[in-house]
Amino acid sequence: MTIESFLGRAIAAYDPPVRGDRITGERYHEKRWADAEWAHVWTKAWHIGGMAADLEDAGDFLTHNIGRESVVMLCQEDGSVKAFYNACKHRGYRLAWTEVGGSPFLTCGYHGWKYAPDGTLAHVQDPDDFPGGSPCGKVKLEEIPCTVWGGFVWFTMDRDAAPLKTWLGAAGEQLEQWQMGKMTRVLALSSDVPCNWKIIRDNFNESYHLPNLHPQIAGSIDDALEGTIFEMNPEGHNCMIMRGLKPSGRYPTSDILEMPLAQALEYWELDPKDFEGRASQARDAILAQKRKLGADKGYAHYATMGDSEIVDYHHYTLFPNITFTMWPDGFQLLRSEPHPTDPERCIFDHWFMAHEMPGSDVVMGPMGPTPFQHVEREKIEFGTKSLGDVADQDLSVAIGQQLGLHSRGFTGGILPNQEKRVQLFHEKLNDVCGIHD
Ligand code: FES
Ligand SMILES: [Fe+2]
Repeated sequence: MTIESFLGRAIAAYDPPVRGDRITGERYHEKRWADAEWAHVWTKAWHIGGMAADLEDAGDFLTHNIGRESVVMLCQEDGSVKAFYNACKHRGYRLAWTEVGGSPFLTCGYHGWKYAPDGTLAHVQDPDDFPGGSPCGKVKLEEIPCTVWGGFVWFTMDRDAAPLKTWLGAAGEQLEQWQMGKMTRVLALSSDVPCNWKIIRDNFNESYHLPNLHPQIAGSIDDALEGTIFEMNPEGHNCMIMRGLKPSGRYPTSDILEMPLAQALEYWELDPKDFEGRASQARDAILAQKRKLGADKGYAHYATMGDSEIVDYHHYTLFPNITFTMWPDGFQLLRSEPHPTDPERCIFDHWFMAHEMPGSDVVMGPMGPTPFQHVEREKIEFGTKSLGDVADQDLSVAIGQQLGLHSRGFTGGILPNQEKRVQLFHEKLNDVCGIHD
Protein backbone atom coordinates (compact mmCIF):
# COMPACT_ATOMS: atom_id res chain seq x y z
CA MET A 1 0.00 0.00 0.00
CA THR A 2 1.45 3.37 -0.96
CA ILE A 3 1.17 6.37 1.29
CA GLU A 4 -1.09 8.05 -1.25
CA SER A 5 -3.53 5.19 -1.34
CA PHE A 6 -3.86 4.83 2.39
CA LEU A 7 -5.50 8.22 2.51
CA GLY A 8 -6.76 8.47 -1.04
CA ARG A 9 -5.50 12.06 -1.25
CA ALA A 10 -2.90 13.25 -3.77
CA ILE A 11 0.15 14.47 -1.91
CA ALA A 12 1.40 16.75 -4.70
CA ALA A 13 -1.67 18.97 -4.31
CA TYR A 14 -0.69 19.69 -0.71
CA ASP A 15 2.96 20.56 -1.20
CA PRO A 16 3.32 24.25 -2.07
CA PRO A 17 6.78 25.73 -2.73
CA VAL A 18 8.71 27.76 -0.15
CA ARG A 19 10.86 30.84 -0.71
CA GLY A 20 13.46 30.12 1.93
CA ASP A 21 12.96 33.26 4.08
CA ARG A 22 15.47 33.33 6.94
CA ILE A 23 13.97 32.53 10.35
CA THR A 24 16.06 34.49 12.83
CA GLY A 25 15.68 34.95 16.57
CA GLU A 26 14.21 38.47 16.73
CA ARG A 27 10.70 37.42 15.90
CA TYR A 28 10.62 35.40 19.11
CA HIS A 29 11.27 38.32 21.46
CA GLU A 30 10.94 41.73 19.76
CA LYS A 31 7.98 43.92 20.63
CA ARG A 32 7.62 45.09 17.03
CA TRP A 33 6.80 41.50 16.08
CA ALA A 34 4.29 41.17 18.92
CA ASP A 35 2.65 44.46 17.86
CA ALA A 36 2.50 43.40 14.20
CA GLU A 37 1.04 40.04 15.17
CA TRP A 38 -1.66 41.72 17.25
CA ALA A 39 -2.59 44.01 14.37
CA HIS A 40 -2.48 41.44 11.57
CA VAL A 41 -2.82 37.97 13.09
CA TRP A 42 -4.69 37.85 16.42
CA THR A 43 -7.32 40.44 15.52
CA LYS A 44 -7.98 38.65 12.19
CA ALA A 45 -8.01 34.91 12.99
CA TRP A 46 -10.81 32.74 14.29
CA HIS A 47 -10.34 31.75 17.95
CA ILE A 48 -11.77 29.07 20.20
CA GLY A 49 -13.64 30.81 23.01
CA GLY A 50 -14.72 27.73 24.97
CA MET A 51 -17.01 24.73 24.92
CA ALA A 52 -20.53 24.96 23.52
CA ALA A 53 -21.58 22.40 26.15
CA ASP A 54 -21.20 25.11 28.83
CA LEU A 55 -24.02 27.13 27.24
CA GLU A 56 -27.47 25.72 27.98
CA ASP A 57 -29.83 28.57 28.86
CA ALA A 58 -30.27 32.13 27.63
CA GLY A 59 -27.78 34.31 29.49
CA ASP A 60 -25.21 31.56 30.02
CA PHE A 61 -21.83 32.86 29.02
CA LEU A 62 -18.22 32.01 28.27
CA THR A 63 -15.36 34.47 28.38
CA HIS A 64 -12.01 34.16 26.71
CA ASN A 65 -9.07 36.51 27.19
CA ILE A 66 -6.49 36.79 24.45
CA GLY A 67 -3.64 39.25 24.73
CA ARG A 68 -5.12 42.30 26.46
CA GLU A 69 -8.54 41.68 24.93
CA SER A 70 -11.47 39.86 26.47
CA VAL A 71 -14.53 38.48 24.72
CA VAL A 72 -17.81 37.30 26.23
CA MET A 73 -19.98 34.79 24.36
CA LEU A 74 -23.64 34.73 25.38
CA CYS A 75 -26.30 32.10 24.81
CA GLN A 76 -29.44 33.53 23.18
CA GLU A 77 -33.10 32.66 23.69
CA ASP A 78 -33.03 30.49 20.54
CA GLY A 79 -29.88 28.62 21.61
CA SER A 80 -27.56 30.46 19.21
CA VAL A 81 -24.50 32.28 20.53
CA LYS A 82 -23.41 35.90 20.12
CA ALA A 83 -19.98 37.29 21.01
CA PHE A 84 -19.19 40.76 22.32
CA TYR A 85 -16.14 42.62 23.55
CA ASN A 86 -16.19 42.17 27.30
CA ALA A 87 -16.23 45.87 28.16
CA CYS A 88 -19.05 47.96 29.62
CA LYS A 89 -20.29 50.75 27.35
CA HIS A 90 -20.60 53.09 30.34
CA ARG A 91 -16.97 53.59 31.32
CA GLY A 92 -15.25 50.46 30.14
CA TYR A 93 -15.19 48.18 33.18
CA ARG A 94 -14.73 44.52 32.24
CA LEU A 95 -18.14 42.89 32.51
CA ALA A 96 -17.73 39.13 32.96
CA TRP A 97 -14.92 37.86 35.16
CA THR A 98 -15.37 34.10 35.14
CA GLU A 99 -14.74 31.81 32.16
CA VAL A 100 -18.14 30.20 32.55
CA GLY A 101 -21.24 31.72 34.11
CA GLY A 102 -24.80 32.76 33.52
CA SER A 103 -27.69 34.95 34.61
CA PRO A 104 -30.63 36.58 32.79
CA PHE A 105 -28.68 39.85 32.57
CA LEU A 106 -24.97 40.55 32.37
CA THR A 107 -24.42 43.08 35.14
CA CYS A 108 -21.49 45.47 35.36
CA GLY A 109 -19.77 45.43 38.71
CA TYR A 110 -19.01 49.18 38.71
CA HIS A 111 -22.31 51.14 38.42
CA GLY A 112 -24.66 48.22 37.87
CA TRP A 113 -25.62 48.59 34.20
CA LYS A 114 -27.40 45.45 32.99
CA TYR A 115 -27.26 43.97 29.50
CA ALA A 116 -29.65 41.44 27.94
CA PRO A 117 -28.11 38.33 26.31
CA ASP A 118 -28.37 40.01 22.89
CA GLY A 119 -26.08 42.78 24.18
CA THR A 120 -28.79 45.44 24.52
CA LEU A 121 -28.55 47.70 27.54
CA ALA A 122 -31.62 46.91 29.66
CA HIS A 123 -31.18 48.81 32.94
CA VAL A 124 -29.18 51.76 34.25
CA GLN A 125 -29.32 53.70 37.48
CA ASP A 126 -31.01 57.11 37.08
CA PRO A 127 -32.03 56.63 33.44
CA ASP A 128 -33.54 60.13 33.15
CA ASP A 129 -30.24 61.77 34.05
CA PHE A 130 -28.71 61.19 30.59
CA PRO A 131 -28.66 63.87 27.89
CA GLY A 132 -31.16 62.71 25.26
CA GLY A 133 -32.96 60.39 27.66
CA SER A 134 -32.40 56.88 28.89
CA PRO A 135 -29.72 54.91 26.98
CA CYS A 136 -31.60 51.64 27.64
CA GLY A 137 -32.66 49.87 24.46
CA LYS A 138 -30.39 52.17 22.41
CA VAL A 139 -26.93 51.16 23.55
CA LYS A 140 -25.54 47.71 22.63
CA LEU A 141 -22.34 45.91 23.45
CA GLU A 142 -19.89 45.72 20.54
CA GLU A 143 -20.72 42.51 18.71
CA ILE A 144 -18.19 40.44 16.76
CA PRO A 145 -18.64 37.33 14.56
CA CYS A 146 -19.28 34.11 16.45
CA THR A 147 -20.19 30.56 15.49
CA VAL A 148 -20.37 27.06 16.95
CA TRP A 149 -18.47 24.23 15.30
CA GLY A 150 -16.83 21.01 16.46
CA GLY A 151 -18.17 21.43 20.00
CA PHE A 152 -16.41 24.79 20.39
CA VAL A 153 -17.66 28.36 20.38
CA TRP A 154 -15.49 30.36 17.97
CA PHE A 155 -15.13 34.12 17.55
CA THR A 156 -13.10 36.51 15.47
CA MET A 157 -12.38 40.18 16.08
CA ASP A 158 -12.45 40.79 12.32
CA ARG A 159 -15.95 41.85 11.29
CA ASP A 160 -14.96 41.26 7.65
CA ALA A 161 -13.57 37.76 8.27
CA ALA A 162 -14.57 34.91 5.98
CA PRO A 163 -16.96 32.45 7.68
CA LEU A 164 -15.26 29.88 9.90
CA LYS A 165 -15.85 27.03 7.46
CA THR A 166 -14.22 29.01 4.64
CA TRP A 167 -11.28 29.78 6.93
CA LEU A 168 -10.96 26.08 7.87
CA GLY A 169 -11.07 25.01 4.21
CA ALA A 170 -10.30 21.37 3.44
CA ALA A 171 -9.13 20.78 7.02
CA GLY A 172 -12.64 21.55 8.29
CA GLU A 173 -14.23 19.08 5.89
CA GLN A 174 -11.77 16.34 6.87
CA LEU A 175 -12.26 17.01 10.58
CA GLU A 176 -16.02 16.47 10.30
CA GLN A 177 -15.33 12.72 10.23
CA TRP A 178 -14.53 12.59 13.93
CA GLN A 179 -17.85 14.11 15.04
CA MET A 180 -16.02 16.44 17.39
CA GLY A 181 -19.27 18.10 18.44
CA LYS A 182 -20.40 14.86 20.09
CA MET A 183 -17.30 14.63 22.27
CA THR A 184 -16.86 15.77 25.88
CA ARG A 185 -13.92 17.81 27.19
CA VAL A 186 -12.35 15.63 29.89
CA LEU A 187 -9.03 17.48 30.29
CA ALA A 188 -8.40 21.23 30.09
CA LEU A 189 -5.04 22.42 31.34
CA SER A 190 -3.72 25.92 30.80
CA SER A 191 -0.46 27.54 31.81
CA ASP A 192 1.50 30.75 31.35
CA VAL A 193 4.73 29.45 29.80
CA PRO A 194 8.09 31.29 29.52
CA CYS A 195 8.52 31.18 25.73
CA ASN A 196 7.17 32.98 22.69
CA TRP A 197 3.97 31.45 21.26
CA LYS A 198 5.71 30.61 17.97
CA ILE A 199 8.22 28.29 19.63
CA ILE A 200 5.31 26.02 20.50
CA ARG A 201 3.91 26.38 16.98
CA ASP A 202 7.24 25.41 15.45
CA ASN A 203 7.33 22.33 17.65
CA PHE A 204 3.91 21.16 16.50
CA ASN A 205 4.78 21.97 12.89
CA GLU A 206 7.45 19.28 12.71
CA SER A 207 7.94 15.67 13.77
CA TYR A 208 11.73 15.80 13.46
CA HIS A 209 12.00 16.03 17.26
CA LEU A 210 9.98 12.91 18.02
CA PRO A 211 12.72 10.23 18.16
CA ASN A 212 14.95 12.35 20.38
CA LEU A 213 12.38 14.03 22.58
CA HIS A 214 9.56 11.47 22.80
CA PRO A 215 11.25 8.05 22.55
CA GLN A 216 8.43 6.49 24.57
CA ILE A 217 6.01 6.64 21.63
CA ALA A 218 8.16 4.46 19.35
CA GLY A 219 6.46 1.23 20.48
CA SER A 220 3.06 2.13 19.08
CA ILE A 221 3.37 5.12 16.71
CA ASP A 222 5.39 4.97 13.51
CA ASP A 223 7.44 8.17 13.53
CA ALA A 224 9.65 7.07 10.60
CA LEU A 225 9.89 9.70 7.90
CA GLU A 226 8.93 7.28 5.10
CA GLY A 227 5.60 6.45 6.73
CA THR A 228 4.60 10.02 7.65
CA ILE A 229 2.43 12.22 5.47
CA PHE A 230 2.76 16.00 5.44
CA GLU A 231 0.01 18.05 3.84
CA MET A 232 0.00 21.84 3.54
CA ASN A 233 -3.18 23.68 2.60
CA PRO A 234 -3.49 27.05 0.87
CA GLU A 235 -5.13 28.67 3.94
CA GLY A 236 -1.90 28.12 5.87
CA HIS A 237 -3.27 25.12 7.74
CA ASN A 238 -1.51 21.78 7.55
CA CYS A 239 -1.84 18.15 8.50
CA MET A 240 0.65 15.48 9.48
CA ILE A 241 -0.45 11.87 9.56
CA MET A 242 1.45 9.16 11.43
CA ARG A 243 0.47 5.54 11.48
CA GLY A 244 -0.75 4.37 14.85
CA LEU A 245 -0.79 0.84 16.31
CA LYS A 246 2.56 0.33 14.59
CA PRO A 247 6.05 0.44 16.10
CA SER A 248 8.41 3.02 14.68
CA GLY A 249 9.97 1.90 11.40
CA ARG A 250 13.14 3.75 12.38
CA TYR A 251 14.51 0.84 14.39
CA PRO A 252 15.33 -2.85 13.89
CA THR A 253 12.82 -3.43 16.73
CA SER A 254 9.90 -2.53 14.49
CA ASP A 255 8.52 -6.06 14.67
CA ILE A 256 8.87 -6.49 18.43
CA LEU A 257 5.52 -6.38 20.19
CA GLU A 258 5.31 -4.03 23.17
CA MET A 259 2.66 -3.70 25.85
CA PRO A 260 0.37 -0.94 24.47
CA LEU A 261 0.10 -2.71 21.15
CA ALA A 262 -0.44 -6.11 22.78
CA GLN A 263 -3.27 -4.62 24.86
CA ALA A 264 -4.87 -3.11 21.76
CA LEU A 265 -4.75 -6.51 20.03
CA GLU A 266 -6.43 -8.18 23.00
CA TYR A 267 -9.11 -5.49 23.23
CA TRP A 268 -9.96 -6.06 19.58
CA GLU A 269 -10.15 -9.81 20.16
CA LEU A 270 -6.90 -10.76 18.51
CA ASP A 271 -4.23 -12.96 20.09
CA PRO A 272 -1.00 -11.02 20.76
CA LYS A 273 0.94 -14.29 20.42
CA ASP A 274 0.06 -14.30 16.72
CA PHE A 275 1.91 -11.02 16.33
CA GLU A 276 5.14 -11.88 18.18
CA GLY A 277 7.93 -10.96 15.79
CA ARG A 278 5.55 -9.28 13.35
CA ALA A 279 4.21 -6.34 15.32
CA SER A 280 4.25 -4.12 12.26
CA GLN A 281 1.26 -6.09 10.95
CA ALA A 282 -0.90 -5.43 14.01
CA ARG A 283 -2.27 -2.14 12.64
CA ASP A 284 -3.93 -3.67 9.60
CA ALA A 285 -5.34 -6.56 11.65
CA ILE A 286 -6.83 -4.18 14.25
CA LEU A 287 -8.21 -1.98 11.48
CA ALA A 288 -10.12 -4.97 10.10
CA GLN A 289 -11.42 -5.84 13.59
CA LYS A 290 -12.51 -2.27 14.23
CA ARG A 291 -14.53 -2.32 11.03
CA LYS A 292 -16.01 -5.70 11.93
CA LEU A 293 -16.68 -5.23 15.65
CA GLY A 294 -16.69 -1.43 16.13
CA ALA A 295 -20.44 -0.87 15.97
CA ASP A 296 -21.23 -3.80 18.29
CA LYS A 297 -18.62 -2.65 20.79
CA GLY A 298 -20.21 0.82 20.84
CA TYR A 299 -17.85 2.74 18.58
CA ALA A 300 -20.62 4.25 16.46
CA HIS A 301 -18.39 7.15 15.40
CA TYR A 302 -16.22 4.84 13.26
CA ALA A 303 -19.06 4.73 10.73
CA THR A 304 -18.23 8.25 9.50
CA MET A 305 -14.44 7.81 9.60
CA GLY A 306 -11.95 6.61 7.00
CA ASP A 307 -9.65 3.63 7.54
CA SER A 308 -6.60 5.69 8.43
CA GLU A 309 -8.65 7.86 10.79
CA ILE A 310 -9.69 4.90 12.96
CA VAL A 311 -6.15 3.67 13.57
CA ASP A 312 -3.74 6.57 12.92
CA TYR A 313 -2.90 10.00 14.35
CA HIS A 314 -3.90 12.99 12.26
CA HIS A 315 -2.29 16.20 13.52
CA TYR A 316 -4.04 19.28 12.13
CA THR A 317 -2.38 22.63 12.69
CA LEU A 318 -4.54 25.65 11.91
CA PHE A 319 -2.83 28.95 11.21
CA PRO A 320 -1.87 30.65 13.37
CA ASN A 321 -2.04 28.81 16.65
CA ILE A 322 -4.27 25.74 17.02
CA THR A 323 -3.26 22.09 16.78
CA PHE A 324 -5.85 19.35 16.86
CA THR A 325 -4.20 15.96 17.32
CA MET A 326 -6.91 13.53 16.26
CA TRP A 327 -6.92 10.08 17.85
CA PRO A 328 -9.48 7.49 16.75
CA ASP A 329 -11.67 8.11 19.81
CA GLY A 330 -10.79 11.66 20.84
CA PHE A 331 -8.54 14.61 20.13
CA GLN A 332 -6.15 17.00 21.80
CA LEU A 333 -6.27 20.76 21.48
CA LEU A 334 -2.73 22.13 21.73
CA ARG A 335 -2.79 25.91 21.53
CA SER A 336 -0.44 28.80 22.23
CA GLU A 337 -1.76 32.35 22.58
CA PRO A 338 0.12 35.60 23.11
CA HIS A 339 0.83 36.89 26.62
CA PRO A 340 -0.89 40.24 27.27
CA THR A 341 2.40 42.17 27.58
CA ASP A 342 5.50 39.94 27.29
CA PRO A 343 6.55 38.50 23.89
CA GLU A 344 8.73 36.01 25.76
CA ARG A 345 5.74 34.34 27.39
CA CYS A 346 2.58 32.72 26.08
CA ILE A 347 -0.54 30.95 27.28
CA PHE A 348 -0.43 27.23 26.48
CA ASP A 349 -3.57 25.10 26.50
CA HIS A 350 -3.74 21.32 26.44
CA TRP A 351 -7.27 19.91 26.31
CA PHE A 352 -8.61 16.48 25.47
CA MET A 353 -12.05 15.86 24.03
CA ALA A 354 -13.33 12.28 23.85
CA HIS A 355 -16.19 10.06 22.82
CA GLU A 356 -17.55 7.96 25.67
CA MET A 357 -15.84 4.57 25.87
CA PRO A 358 -18.49 1.85 25.88
CA GLY A 359 -18.98 0.25 29.27
CA SER A 360 -16.41 2.46 30.96
CA ASP A 361 -16.47 5.61 33.08
CA VAL A 362 -12.94 6.54 32.00
CA VAL A 363 -11.36 7.29 28.63
CA MET A 364 -7.76 6.91 27.56
CA GLY A 365 -6.25 10.35 27.12
CA PRO A 366 -2.84 12.00 27.00
CA MET A 367 -2.61 11.74 30.82
CA GLY A 368 -3.67 8.05 30.85
CA PRO A 369 -7.10 6.88 32.07
CA THR A 370 -9.24 9.98 32.64
CA PRO A 371 -12.75 10.19 34.16
CA PHE A 372 -15.35 10.72 31.45
CA GLN A 373 -16.85 13.98 32.68
CA HIS A 374 -16.95 17.55 31.43
CA VAL A 375 -14.26 19.67 33.10
CA GLU A 376 -13.58 23.39 33.22
CA ARG A 377 -10.24 24.94 32.34
CA GLU A 378 -7.65 24.46 35.07
CA LYS A 379 -4.96 27.14 35.31
CA ILE A 380 -1.61 25.71 36.35
CA GLU A 381 1.39 27.64 37.58
CA PHE A 382 4.06 26.49 35.15
CA GLY A 383 6.36 23.83 36.60
CA THR A 384 4.16 22.95 39.58
CA LYS A 385 2.18 20.20 37.84
CA SER A 386 2.46 18.12 34.69
CA LEU A 387 0.75 19.36 31.53
CA GLY A 388 1.03 15.82 30.10
CA ASP A 389 4.19 13.73 29.56
CA VAL A 390 4.60 14.60 25.91
CA ALA A 391 3.65 18.24 26.41
CA ASP A 392 6.13 18.51 29.30
CA GLN A 393 8.86 17.17 27.03
CA ASP A 394 7.99 19.70 24.33
CA LEU A 395 7.88 22.60 26.78
CA SER A 396 11.16 21.60 28.42
CA VAL A 397 13.01 22.42 25.19
CA ALA A 398 10.86 25.44 24.38
CA ILE A 399 12.36 27.35 27.28
CA GLY A 400 15.92 26.49 26.28
CA GLN A 401 15.16 27.53 22.72
CA GLN A 402 13.84 30.89 23.90
CA LEU A 403 17.22 31.46 25.55
CA GLY A 404 19.25 30.31 22.54
CA LEU A 405 17.30 32.45 20.09
CA HIS A 406 18.73 35.54 21.83
CA SER A 407 22.26 34.48 21.04
CA ARG A 408 24.33 36.29 18.42
CA GLY A 409 25.50 32.81 17.54
CA PHE A 410 22.10 31.93 16.08
CA THR A 411 21.85 33.37 12.60
CA GLY A 412 18.73 31.65 11.23
CA GLY A 413 17.38 28.12 11.16
CA ILE A 414 18.75 25.31 8.97
CA LEU A 415 15.76 23.12 8.21
CA PRO A 416 15.51 19.67 6.61
CA ASN A 417 12.77 19.11 4.03
CA GLN A 418 10.51 17.46 6.59
CA GLU A 419 10.36 20.78 8.52
CA LYS A 420 8.77 22.52 5.56
CA ARG A 421 5.66 23.26 7.58
CA VAL A 422 7.81 25.36 9.93
CA GLN A 423 9.19 27.27 6.96
CA LEU A 424 5.74 27.82 5.44
CA PHE A 425 4.33 29.00 8.77
CA HIS A 426 6.97 31.71 9.05
CA GLU A 427 6.68 32.75 5.42
CA LYS A 428 2.93 33.17 5.85
CA LEU A 429 3.53 35.11 9.05
CA ASN A 430 6.03 37.38 7.25
CA ASP A 431 3.48 38.07 4.54
CA VAL A 432 0.59 38.65 6.92
CA CYS A 433 2.64 40.92 9.19
CA GLY A 434 4.34 42.68 6.28
CA ILE A 435 7.79 42.13 7.78
CA HIS A 436 10.44 40.79 5.42
CA ASP A 437 13.85 41.27 7.00
S1 FES B 1 -18.48 51.04 33.94
FE1 FES B 1 -20.09 49.61 33.77
S2 FES B 1 -21.74 50.50 34.82
FE2 FES B 1 -20.16 51.96 34.93
FE1 LIG C 1 6.54 17.00 20.63
